Order: sequence, then C-alpha cells, then structure tokens
Amino acid sequence: MSKLLVANWKMKLSKKDSIALAKKISSFWENIELQNTVLVSIAPSMPILSEVGNIILQKGIKLAAQDCSVKNNGAYTGETSAEILRECNCEYVILGHSERRKYQNETSELIAEKASLAYECNLTPIICVGETVQQRERGIMLNVLKEQLMVLLSLQKYVSRELIVAYEPVWAIGSGKVPTEKQIQEVVSYIRDVIQSEFSIANENLKILYGGSVNTKNCRDLLQIQGVGGLLIGGASLVYNSFVDILKSAFEIPETVV
Ligand code: PGA
Repeated sequence: MSKLLVANWKMKLSKKDSIALAKKISSFWENIELQNTVLVSIAPSMPILSEVGNIILQKGIKLAAQDCSVKNNGAYTGETSAEILRECNCEYVILGHSERRKYQNETSELIAEKASLAYECNLTPIICVGETVQQRERGIMLNVLKEQLMVLLSLQKYVSRELIVAYEPVWAIGSGKVPTEKQIQEVVSYIRDVIQSEFSIANENLKILYGGSVNTKNCRDLLQIQGVGGLLIGGASLVYNSFVDILKSAFEIPETVV
C-alpha cells in the first residue's frame, strides 16, 4: 500500500508564500520517477485552494482541504461545502483535527456527519483522532479513542471506499514531543482493531497516518512502524527542505511495512 504524506499548512502561510512553496515542491515532485509508490497531498488555506491546485495537480500532488461544512448548501455564512471542495479538485478533506475540536468545539458526531457528506461529494475524509496528555496519564486514552472512532459506524455504507484515520496525540502536535514507537504501534493496532471489528472494512481500504511533531529526523522511524500508512505533517511541511527530506524518506521504506 502506498504511503500517504499530507502537508497541513494550517493558517500559517501567506498567499505569496503558499504559492512559492507549492511551486518548489511541485518542481521537486515532477522529477520523481516512482511517484505512485508514495502519495503526496497539500492542504492550503481555503481561499487559495484553486490556485495551489493549479500548480500541484498537474505534477501529481493531490489537493486537500483542512475542513468542510456539515451542511452542503444553504444560508450558512462563512461555511465551505464539500461539494465546492470537490469542484476545486480536492481529493481529501481533513476532519476533526484537534485544533477544530478545541477551538470550534467540534464533536465526534459532527465530524462523522461531515465525513458522510465528504463521501457523498467524492472526497476522502482524513479523520483525526488523538488523546490529550491528561487523558493518557489518567489511563483513559483507549476509551477516548474508542469514542472518537465509534461514530464512524454511521459511515458503514461507505465501507467500499477508502477510510483514512490520522492518529495525532494532542500533546505531540507542535510540541516537539513524539510518542515512542511502542506507544504509536499500540494505538495504531487498537484503531485498526476497533474499526475492523465494528466496521467490516477491508484492510486495503483503511489507512492510518501518524501526525504530531514529525520532522526530518524522526520521519524514517515513524514510517517504519508497523501499521503506519503515512504521515500528517504540520510545521515541517512549511519548510521546503524539511518537507522534501520527509518525502525522500518515504521512498526508502520497503513497501511491505504498512
Ligand atoms: P505538527 O502538526 O507537525 O506541527 O506537530 C501536525 C498537525 O497538527 O497536523
């Protein structure tokens, strides 16, 4: 299964810097011969989706959005529908990032509703889950993850489609702290078990990404962890050299490590 590397630019780059970075990454990527063994996607800010898309799509990089509305049409000022994202040629939409759960009070149920709309509009949702440090210390991490995952049962009718779950421990995001390999492996196999026992999705339709303080030093080890199908990268995706180093590392990983 191809590794998927997703750059989450959050709200951190200006339009000018986004375009310049998209151009540099695209020039690097178009010279890669084995493009289809690694998938790359970039999630820029909403207003520049089309502009960034025009640069990256023709070079084989996929476009992602950082969120979508829970409604598909209507009087919802400020919202962006999954349908428009598809019209802008997005392939993926990141949903339930912990920053949205925290600052927009998004619940797991709302995220599942958004995911369902995303599927209806032919987008693949990347659903983020993860525990806070307090939840981990209190020993309730697996319960929290289960609550975040169980709502996905409402997506049962889309089992023939790809489901991407990103495990992003909240305490690892932007902190420089990364769980140990054993901790990631434990969670990733738990996520797979919960989804597969409750939700009869085929193995090849489920991809689990790791996200949280991925950098050029740890990316190789992270990509080799059993069950990790790719990375969701924040800070390190904003710097050309770091992001390209991470992309290069994905080509060094034998395809059998999924
Ligand atoms: P980070 O962000 O790589 O800067 O920790 C990851 C994310 O929030 O998706």
